[in-house]
Amino acid sequence: MSTASSAPQTLTLRRPDDWHVHLRDGAMLQACAVHTARQFARAVIMPNLVPPVTRIAEAAAYRDRIRKAVPAGLDFEPLMTCYLTDGADPAELANGKQQGVWVAAKLYPAHATTNSAHGVTSMDKIARGLEAMEKAGMPLLVHGEVTDPEVDIFDREAVFLDKVLAPLLRRHPGLKVVLEHITTKEGVAFVEANGPRMGGTITPHHLNFNRNAIFKGGIRPHFYCLPIAKAEEHRLALRRAATSGSPQFFLGTDTAPHTVDTKECACGCAGIFNAPVAMQLYAQVFAEEGRLDALEAFASLNGPRFYGLPPNEARITLRAAPFEAPERVDVPGSDKSVLVFRPDTPLGWTF
Ligand code: DOR
Ligand code: ZN
Repeated sequence: MSTASSAPQTLTLRRPDDWHVHLRDGAMLQACAVHTARQFARAVIMPNLVPPVTRIAEAAAYRDRIRKAVPAGLDFEPLMTCYLTDGADPAELANGKQQGVWVAAKLYPAHATTNSAHGVTSMDKIARGLEAMEKAGMPLLVHGEVTDPEVDIFDREAVFLDKVLAPLLRRHPGLKVVLEHITTKEGVAFVEANGPRMGGTITPHHLNFNRNAIFKGGIRPHFYCLPIAKAEEHRLALRRAATSGSPQFFLGTDTAPHTVDTKECACGCAGIFNAPVAMQLYAQVFAEEGRLDALEAFASLNGPRFYGLPPNEARITLRAAPFEAPERVDVPGSDKSVLVFRPDTPLGWTF
């Protein structure tokens, strides 16, 4: 870190990884893969394709397509996940881990979010699968929201912790669990209370804005994602957790591209495409909190440690300088594009 002025102007850290990414498939994959690969050495790839990735062979084929979609010269490794359905096959889980295809499995409560129709309807239905994962040392990645439409959308994460996740942890005491894209102070406290078996990922957008941003001057669909952004006290709790240096919290962008037409319509999709600005945004948050010294742990060390992987040897250097992101990314072979997440305050970090 340079000390040319009171605040650091550059920061060199081990190359970071993204522990939660939606890369999609086909033309969208061609459009998006480069943006994640420029920023990160490895990424945990979400399996919510249509149809979902549930078999070892499907994941291996998808991994090949991702590798082909990354331009030559970029060093990038996709880490694959298995989409859990009711009756998930314990052998498929254990074998895929053993063969080095799965790094984890993803729990979507049925109908919680994009492409979760095949998700899990009751934790009883995946108990045998979770037992196999427990034995194999394979983490469970959780979309932590209840789907009961009677529960207020802003309470769905906190209710999930009490009603679903706490009993699940008791039932599977050896299972490692990541609460993905934490959005509440209750989520932060839950991860902390459950010790080293639990991790939590935090997105750059949930660190950047609170729920007011979704409605500032009108409804802004490009600030809509799931879990939905919460009130300011929750954003502040996320900032404290991310910058705390605790090994339980690590980087996961949840970059989730949708074309403009499917965001800007009567029933727009949830998801924020932040891959082109991810490290710039995280650096901005850590700088604002005066905790740039904690960025390397969050972005490059805590995730590998949780997953039992070595940290990356390559380094990146971030600089305090304005960053102008492209406004949109075009989807090849179509007239469609994806808007890049644009925070309301300009980005002051670049690399
Ligand atoms: O906002 C979201 N978008 N949240 C999710 O859980 C899924 C994701 C997607 O796949 O678009
Ligand atoms: Zn996601």
